[in-house]
Amino acid sequence: MEAAKEKRKSVLSGIQPTGTFTLGNYLGAVKNWAPLQDDYDCAYMIADLHSLTVRQEPAKLRRQILEAYAMLLASGVDPNKSIVFIQSHVKTHTELAWILSCYTQFGELSRMTQFKDKAQKHADNVNAGLFTYPSLMAADILLYQADLVPVGADQKQHLEITRDIANRFNGIYGNTFNIPDGLILKAGAKIMSLADPQKKMSKSDENPNACILLSDTPDTIIKKCKRAVTDSEAEVVYREGKDGINNLMTIYSVCTKKSFEEIEREFSGKGYGDFKMAVGEAVVAELKPIQDEFKRLMDSKDYLEDCYRKGAELATKISRRTMDKVNKKVGLIVG
Ligand code: TYM
Repeated sequence: MEAAKEKRKSVLSGIQPTGTFTLGNYLGAVKNWAPLQDDYDCAYMIADLHSLTVRQEPAKLRRQILEAYAMLLASGVDPNKSIVFIQSHVKTHTELAWILSCYTQFGELSRMTQFKDKAQKHADNVNAGLFTYPSLMAADILLYQADLVPVGADQKQHLEITRDIANRFNGIYGNTFNIPDGLILKAGAKIMSLADPQKKMSKSDENPNACILLSDTPDTIIKKCKRAVTDSEAEVVYREGKDGINNLMTIYSVCTKKSFEEIEREFSGKGYGDFKMAVGEAVVAELKPIQDEFKRLMDSKDYLEDCYRKGAELATKISRRTMDKVNKKVGLIVG
């Protein structure tokens, strides 16, 4: 008799469409999404509702949502293998977010570092959405009963609160949500700014040299790498206190799959100039196929529309099951 087929574990992750993806988004998260598709049931989404927590220009946001969707496909996320959708198209996300917000405490939301950072950065718009952002993110994850959530290190606190909310809900109503684990890689989980290597590389950095964008031309990428802040020594070694070099070595290592020891050997006796040039070239080579595919996809808008419509349909179907279960558990009449 044939053994019963084991149920595959599931993965969910998302990315905000606020501007072009950075090299940090790519190396820390998106690059790892495609390889998971062969072993897991994956759902990947553009977190457009999350980006409304900061004021956006409507026409620009609409364009960026489509570009972000195309960029995911260009990075190897395959709509025939995974469910690839736009968050706002799947109404269960806001439905569950409301319910979960009633099981999330004011105190725990106040402790979120992202909330504190963004509230400081956008002091004129500290809105309720910015505050309850983690309840929506918990809904994104829990709706799909995700086992694994591949993200960069900066999302760790949001994953912890998701687990806390899920455990709390399960404690009250019995087993409802799977408790997800984060999948945070050792290398690349926190790519730092090229201008200030003690700060995370971020789309919102005002210094254009701080951040490599997936849309940057080869010349720009090389220029930004050459200008990267390092130190006054001339030794390519991974060592505490050498934040700039450590960051460039991480980028080079993830792009070339070379270990730190190999890199140290390769650049032993050479100056930072050679090393920075090599980092730039490795990034250019890594991004070139993605950029080409992105251009091709942006010329196929009908195809993209077809993909995101199908993605939303499937995501709705799967997430509805969890949503109905939750509605029933809390005592609503399921219509
Ligand atoms: P977002 O859009 O800020 O970033 C998307 C992903 O990129 C990672 N990342 C980085 N990784 C390494 N180095 C960096 N410098 C760097 N900058 C960003 C992030 O950790 C993230 O994995 N709240 C999420 C989006 C989201 C989500 C979800 C994620 C909404 N719902 C459900 C997972 C599951 C966010 O704002 O990511």
